[in-house]
Amino acid sequence: MNSEVHGSAELDPASFRAIADLAYRESGLTLVEEKSSMIRSRLRHRLRDLGLSSFTAYSDLLRSEAGQAERRHLISALTTNVSHFFRENHHFDTLVQEFENRLPALRAGGAMRIWSAGCSNGQEALSAAISLLEHTPDAAKLDIRILATDIDPEVVQFARNGIYPERFMRGVPEGMMTKYFVKDHSDDTEPHYKVRPILSDMIRVNELNLLSAWPMTKRFDVIFCRNVVIYFDAATQSRLWPRFREALSPDGILFLGHSERISEPGTFGFECTGPTTYRPQAP
Ligand SMILES: C[S@@+](CC[C@H](N)C(=O)[O-])C[C@H]1O[C@@H](n2cnc3c(N)ncnc32)[C@H](O)[C@@H]1O
Repeated sequence: MNSEVHGSAELDPASFRAIADLAYRESGLTLVEEKSSMIRSRLRHRLRDLGLSSFTAYSDLLRSEAGQAERRHLISALTTNVSHFFRENHHFDTLVQEFENRLPALRAGGAMRIWSAGCSNGQEALSAAISLLEHTPDAAKLDIRILATDIDPEVVQFARNGIYPERFMRGVPEGMMTKYFVKDHSDDTEPHYKVRPILSDMIRVNELNLLSAWPMTKRFDVIFCRNVVIYFDAATQSRLWPRFREALSPDGILFLGHSERISEPGTFGFECTGPTTYRPQAP
């Protein structure tokens, strides 16, 4: 099968529906008909890699027993992984404030748990770690752990590797580049920056679908779930809010993305305490 045939395969309405239903069931992603041509172009390489000539054949495969592995590739291709360091920087200022308040307890042996839910390539978790270390250089010696999770196995692998091409480094101030990353000149292509152990030792990266069970047993002091629920419908969001409430410590804090809101936060036991910033309501 030549690549022109894959490139010209049309995404017919029935296949679109089948793919959209599956994406919704498996990951909560809501795909609208108007995005059909974008979805077609994102999935074209899957047809090529599988040697399939039509989206009908592709949706048949997805629905079959043999299509289980392909469903992971599908979700990977459909997720939007845009992220950058210190995105929506005001949240990191609030994080540092929160950290400062907890510092005496941390120095006395307490713990601080942070979760980057929908972490993409890991910049959010790294920005959190850098913010804490910039405030308190010995923060790595305290009991602080940052969990970074995402449904997409490709970004999880990327975040675990911790090697960022220069174009990913937008937002990292010059002085922090060498302090927290090792520049790699090993080939003639774009320079890469490898995360130093002082950061990577604070962070664990795992695959996790927010719609599945969450295996974490301890509550979090801070949860970032930013620019993730924007891809979910209201029903899926409403199922997530009580789960985040449950996963937060009573004095914890939840950050959402700039265009995300909990409508009627009180219904879910939250109060809004700042821009896209929520805390559990006092009992
Ligand atoms: C636009 S990125 C946001 C990254 C980062 N939080 C930020 O704000 O820069 C959205 C991420 O959510 C992840 N995602 C989408 N659906 C998910 C789900 N059901 N469970 C976990 N992660 C999901 C995607 O794979 C993607 O990496």
